[in-house]
Amino acid sequence: MAAPQNKGTILVTGAGGYVGGQIVREALESGYSVRITARTESAAARTISRYPSYAASLSSTIVPDITVLESYAAAFADGSIVGIIHAASPFTLNVEDNVRDLLDPAVKGATTILEAALKYGGGKVRRVVSTSSFAAIVDPEKGLNPGYSYDEKDWNPVTWDAAVKAPSLIAYAASKALAERAMWAWVDAHPDAGFTLATICPPWVFGPYAYEIQDTKTLSESVVLLNNIIDSPSVPPFDFGAYADSREVAAAHILALEVPEAAGQRFLVGQNFRYQAIVDAAREALPEARERLPVGKVGDWSPEDAHRVDGSKATKVLGLKYLTLKDTAVDTYKQLFKARALEAKA
Ligand SMILES: NC(=O)c1ccc[n+]([C@@H]2O[C@H](COP(=O)([O-])OP(=O)(O)OC[C@H]3O[C@@H](n4cnc5c(N)ncnc54)[C@H](OP(=O)(O)O)[C@@H]3O)[C@@H](O)[C@H]2O)c1
Repeated sequence: MAAPQNKGTILVTGAGGYVGGQIVREALESGYSVRITARTESAAARTISRYPSYAASLSSTIVPDITVLESYAAAFADGSIVGIIHAASPFTLNVEDNVRDLLDPAVKGATTILEAALKYGGGKVRRVVSTSSFAAIVDPEKGLNPGYSYDEKDWNPVTWDAAVKAPSLIAYAASKALAERAMWAWVDAHPDAGFTLATICPPWVFGPYAYEIQDTKTLSESVVLLNNIIDSPSVPPFDFGAYADSREVAAAHILALEVPEAAGQRFLVGQNFRYQAIVDAAREALPEARERLPVGKVGDWSPEDAHRVDGSKATKVLGLKYLTLKDTAVDTYKQLFKARALEAKA
């Protein structure tokens, strides 16, 4: 399908990833030209090949290191970039060195993209939208915290020193909190930068990839959680208690790029859930899910036994429409079952 109109060119980092892929699709469908960043030429070509109908609206630029300002010079060289979506950040729980593998690329990468917009953007960049996380909002020390509802006023209070020694999930959460804090501090220190910042803070992102996945070997850590329930004897217990659909996360990024009132704002994009609710919805709709997902305790879940999230600001300010949990559960599992079938044949 052809793009409705050309709204200008935006730069999308992390475009080769799960969330970034949906952001690229949403941007193209909304009428933007998109310049993706990738670490290598082959990765750039792979990402571009996922959007065959939009070849004329896609370009790529190689950014070998997101923490090095000069890496971005070529991305802005033609003076066409009017907005930036920064989705690149390590999301891995397989970490040897918290600083090298998580904290440095997340935090330095976050301020480097802002420096790059200022230095190379030629005054054309109007807004930067960054993919932060509910991990930057939730306080892991508070545990289940029943009765509490998290929203954009809340911050994960973790410090750099604690993050350096923390286990990988806590260190990942810290990388998101410290990166987002660093971005807001940069913006405060550069009131004349000529562009504004908005951040999107989703909890676990579920929902489909923007393109057909051929296997389940390189899934994003959040999709791994749903993939791991297939053929498992039990339904996982509570962890973050909240999720967002990959498609609504992408839509929120594009809205945050465009809505004037999003300037200077963070948005918690997400809804409450329990794994039992996902399993119930998938089993009800998909015969294959009935065979391969555990039954658990059907209908036995309530968001009242732990903290809740309030994702209503994204609806009020951005006009975001949330999908249903059934849409997310069904579309995720359809894609995972298909990928597993392809894997089994290969
Ligand atoms: N999935 C979730 O549940 C969730 C929830 C909240 C926020 N987020 C955020 O959403 C963003 C994307 O996550 P995802 O789920 O899409 O994970 P993903 O599929 O692993 O994608 C991560 C993206 O970031 C890039 N990246 C990672 N480390 C990098 C580095 N050191 N230098 C350059 N690029 C790097 C990757 O590039 P390569 O392709 O080159 O590796 C990839 O494009 C991240 O900012 C993540 O924190 C995700």
